[in-house]
Amino acid sequence: MTPPAIEAIELVKEFGDNRAVDGVSFTVPQGAVLGLLGPNGAGKTTTVRMMTTLSEPTSGTARVAGYDVRTQPDMVRRNMGLTGQAATVDELLTGRENIRMIGGLYGIGRKDLKSLGDRLLEQFDLVAAGDRPVRSYSGGMRRRLDLAVSLIAAPPVLFLDEPTTGLDPRSRSDLWEVLRELVAGGTTLLLTTQYLEEADQLADEIVVIDHGRIIAEGTPLQLKEQAGNASLVVTVSHAADLPTARDLVARSGTEVHVDVGARQLTAAADGIDDLTRVANWLRDSGIKIDDIGLSRPSLDDVFLSLTGHRAETAEEAQA
Ligand SMILES: Nc1ncnc2c1ncn2[C@@H]1O[C@H](COP(=O)(O)OP(=O)(O)O)[C@@H](O)[C@H]1O
Ligand SMILES: [Mg+2]
Repeated sequence: MTPPAIEAIELVKEFGDNRAVDGVSFTVPQGAVLGLLGPNGAGKTTTVRMMTTLSEPTSGTARVAGYDVRTQPDMVRRNMGLTGQAATVDELLTGRENIRMIGGLYGIGRKDLKSLGDRLLEQFDLVAAGDRPVRSYSGGMRRRLDLAVSLIAAPPVLFLDEPTTGLDPRSRSDLWEVLRELVAGGTTLLLTTQYLEEADQLADEIVVIDHGRIIAEGTPLQLKEQAGNASLVVTVSHAADLPTARDLVARSGTEVHVDVGARQLTAAADGIDDLTRVANWLRDSGIKIDDIGLSRPSLDDVFLSLTGHRAETAEEAQA
């Protein structure tokens, strides 16, 4: 059996009397994506720093690609890449020069560096900008270059600390696309995020931390199910049909909420079976509908029900 790509084992980090990370354990199988989700100050960066040998655990340990961060830090570093919250690239150099410089530090030969540079610039959509100094790059371009640079040594395990914080929605979804390609190529990913949607989009498993402790874990779907049932949402084409439609939906024995303005009915539902049953009743009674679907609680709802507070965004935290 192959060992997990990443293991956190009872990780603890104290800063004075602040237990920033308070006994965090999880494993990530090879090729999987783990989303470490939590609000500002939850302990995400501190956890990643311990797992990437940048900070020594107060107690507990972690293993990356089977190597222990305490006793085999060199082997850990050789098997991982890290894109931190702060940019690591040199502003004055061009994108291509940055890749060449870091590649040189890894001991990659000149000829290989040339083709590697071409490939990474291509992969991260930076060909046109490759010969411009980084200080002229947009936020999204910098993040992509950061990521390109952390992939120079082709590490099997990649840690990304809030890779899309501060990016506009377009750059964010571009980056998600790049990350999906990496994962398709077999890379194991641990990413931290404050964006519930991001964890939902990318992660196979999510670990939610707050105040240094794990407060929930599971697949995105499992977490959403924890926050309550799905609901069935029907939008009728004509408001006049609302009362009849309401009675039909109520046949499944649940309370039905009517929103007249939106021509919408909402009722608790178990799943697809409920949806098909109601859809059939509506069709048989000749009621025209614009839309019918299941709506599951968002991860935002999950977060609220777990922590009692909404996930704070970076922008709000800075305000
Ligand atoms: N170098 C440090 N010295 C003292 N306290 C720190 C240090 N780094 C982080 N902390 C504290 O540890 C807690 C977790 O911080 P951090 O891991 O950066 O959270 P997150 O990345 O989830 O926003 C916070 O209370 C923070 O103030
Ligand atoms: Mg952080």
